[in-house]
Amino acid sequence: MGKVRYDFTGEVALVTGAAAGMGLAAARAFAEAGAKVVLSDIDEKQLQKAVEEIRSEGGEVTSFVCNVADDDQVKALIAKTVEIYGRLDCAFNNAGVITRAKDIADMAVDEYDHVMSINLRGVWSAMKYEIIQMKKQGWGGAIVNNSSLAGKVGVAQRAQYVAAKHGMLGLTKSAALEAGRDGIRINAICPGTIDTPMVHRMVNDNDLDTKLSKAAVPLGRLGTVEEIAHAVLWLCSNGSSYVIGEPLSVDAGVTIQ
Ligand SMILES: NC(=O)c1ccc[n+]([C@@H]2O[C@H](COP(=O)([O-])OP(=O)(O)OC[C@H]3O[C@@H](n4cnc5c(N)ncnc54)[C@H](O)[C@@H]3O)[C@@H](O)[C@H]2O)c1
Repeated sequence: MGKVRYDFTGEVALVTGAAAGMGLAAARAFAEAGAKVVLSDIDEKQLQKAVEEIRSEGGEVTSFVCNVADDDQVKALIAKTVEIYGRLDCAFNNAGVITRAKDIADMAVDEYDHVMSINLRGVWSAMKYEIIQMKKQGWGGAIVNNSSLAGKVGVAQRAQYVAAKHGMLGLTKSAALEAGRDGIRINAICPGTIDTPMVHRMVNDNDLDTKLSKAAVPLGRLGTVEEIAHAVLWLCSNGSSYVIGEPLSVDAGVTIQ
């Protein structure tokens, strides 16, 4: 496969959950494509490491610690982005957590609220302040929310994660309808099982080769973070100028079976 190239020169991109996994890969891809990138994450140490990595590769990046479950912090994140770089063109609302495998019957209310506050309300907060800024600028923008295959199908023992990821698609579609006339395109991606620290925490490495990869994925392998970054950049580029509210599966066919 040849190298995929995008040009985001002169644009500013914001990524939440950018210290690891898909967020880090997307931040790196935006930087490689010429964007100025704001990386944000709740994990300050990993975030600093990510920034240093991308800077050493020549990217123009900065970072802010932000817990997306805290609406005030998200508001401040967008304000600081604009203070530093003067604009906001693209946003990848990616921060999320996975729950421990549990039946609904065994789930405590605070575990439910924890996942919802990050995976669903966190995306709502991010979109809210991003849309306000993009409307103010007047030239539009692009927002991509990171849902999941769990936004399209049920998964036993992951009910609240699945509910948050389904809910995110509803938020995405509704926000896309509200913001489209202002030239702000809002979409979502629904990754399959991607080789990230989150997945490695969920299952041990042997399981990754058997249960998740070979048996369940039509392409017979896990996805890479770069394959997700490509989808994010395409949805933020002019190449997808007529696409809004789309829950784009990047799952090697898992959910079409
Ligand atoms: N890995 C997969 O197979 C997979 C599949 C589908 C969807 N997803 C979704 O993709 C997104 C990224 O997943 P990943 O696999 O790269 O995860 P990861 O755990 O490897 O990275 C997630 C990052 O988000 C950060 N984060 C967690 N809570 C946060 C908070 N409250 N505020 C700000 N940052 C926070 C973490 O510190 C971490 O750096 C998540 O929303 C996840 O639900 C993952």
